Amino acid sequence: MRAIYAQHGDAYRIWAPGRRSHTWVFNHPADVRRILISNHRNYTKGVGFDRIKMLLGNGIIVSEGDFWKRQRRMMQPTFHRRIIAQLDQFIARANDRLLAAWELKCAAGEPVNVTSDMSDMTLEIILRVIFGDDLEAMAAETGDNPFAVLTSDPARDLRFAYQFRKLTTMIGRWVARRRAAGGSPAGDHPDYLSMLINARDKDTGEGMSDREVVDEITTLIVAGHETTANALNWTWHLLSGNPEAEAKLHAEIDALPEEAVPTLQSMEAMRYANNVIREALRLYPPVWVISRRTIEADQLAGYTVPPDTDVFFSPYFVHRHPEFWTDAEKFQPERWEDDNEGRPRLAYVPFSAGAHHCIGETLALFEMLVHLNRFARRFRLRHVVDEPVGFEALINLRAARPFIMRLERRTSGT
Ligand code: HEM
Repeated sequence: MRAIYAQHGDAYRIWAPGRRSHTWVFNHPADVRRILISNHRNYTKGVGFDRIKMLLGNGIIVSEGDFWKRQRRMMQPTFHRRIIAQLDQFIARANDRLLAAWELKCAAGEPVNVTSDMSDMTLEIILRVIFGDDLEAMAAETGDNPFAVLTSDPARDLRFAYQFRKLTTMIGRWVARRRAAGGSPAGDHPDYLSMLINARDKDTGEGMSDREVVDEITTLIVAGHETTANALNWTWHLLSGNPEAEAKLHAEIDALPEEAVPTLQSMEAMRYANNVIREALRLYPPVWVISRRTIEADQLAGYTVPPDTDVFFSPYFVHRHPEFWTDAEKFQPERWEDDNEGRPRLAYVPFSAGAHHCIGETLALFEMLVHLNRFARRFRLRHVVDEPVGFEALINLRAARPFIMRLERRTSGT
């Protein structure tokens, strides 16, 4: 796509032999706006979601039409900031577990595998916010971490799908148990298992069936795990190569007292850290390509796109569009200080926009901010091998090799 983009720019179509049809690709914010907002009713989700359909049944990331609307309406309130703020303990706990492991590595002078550690930690967070204190009981019942396949097997192929579907049987048992026990959370904090069981459609008063709760739970695991893990992985990579930005981040963090359990409010107040994350998501958007399918014909970039046609846009290219970004290839968190420099809102879409906009944005940002706050306060990370990094552009934008990094201990102000 890079090569084609260099040749053809914002709009092109490409023959997909497997599907025996053209896929149209648009990377100008004006076209993204038309697809996601002004004419969004003319689009279904499209081919990009086919692969994950087999994993997620009819969860909201793949469902369409009235069913999607109903599920989104029920789930939206459970992602309200007031709820996300109450997940702070779960996020802090997972970070502290990793911190203890990194302290030992640092003392022993051993490098860490940032890629797998980000994956394990973000998995722990998403599982914890879903199952709350039932997570230990689930592990005890299966004798191991039943979700290990999500981090131990990086492939997202049929074999993975088979393993993953086995999890849904187990999740179904826990949904039924929790429902039978009255649907309250397993501990003192809200968790998604109970919130989804208790969610009601405000128009009809109906709730979700067990099957629907299972599909939404697997959806949240898949949508919330790898995305956040990759975003953090790329953030560490970018910080390690940009000591000036890193120093500014350190200065901001050092000026704040450390909280045992960082709150959403105090994390959102860290302006520079927020800008670091925004900028990392600009350069390496984990969801690097988004697909839709036309229902009727549509006009995009002056072309008539036929009905029933696959349409892609890529946050990766939109975010590096030379018309909207100065020094687009450079990591410059400062660019976010001047608000938007007059750029259209749809020039920045790491969480997409419009009706299907990521429901987990606030949670993801909260996780990332807590992590930076805890770890950049203590460590500077440097690649052990300083070679160029290639991409594995699968469902998520991954680095082609794991990031093995040295931990350099900081003392405040260094
Ligand atoms: C840095 C982390 C994340 C990124 C970059 C990200 C990105 C995205 C994007 C681009 C979409 C829209 C896809 C489209 O328009 O078709 C999306 C949808 C979604 N995301 Fe996220 N996401 C992240 C984290 C999360 C988390 C933590 C959760 C939940 C715990 C989550 C749950 C979802 C769900 C359920 C949808 C489907 C929404 C719908 O179609 O109604 N995401 N995400």
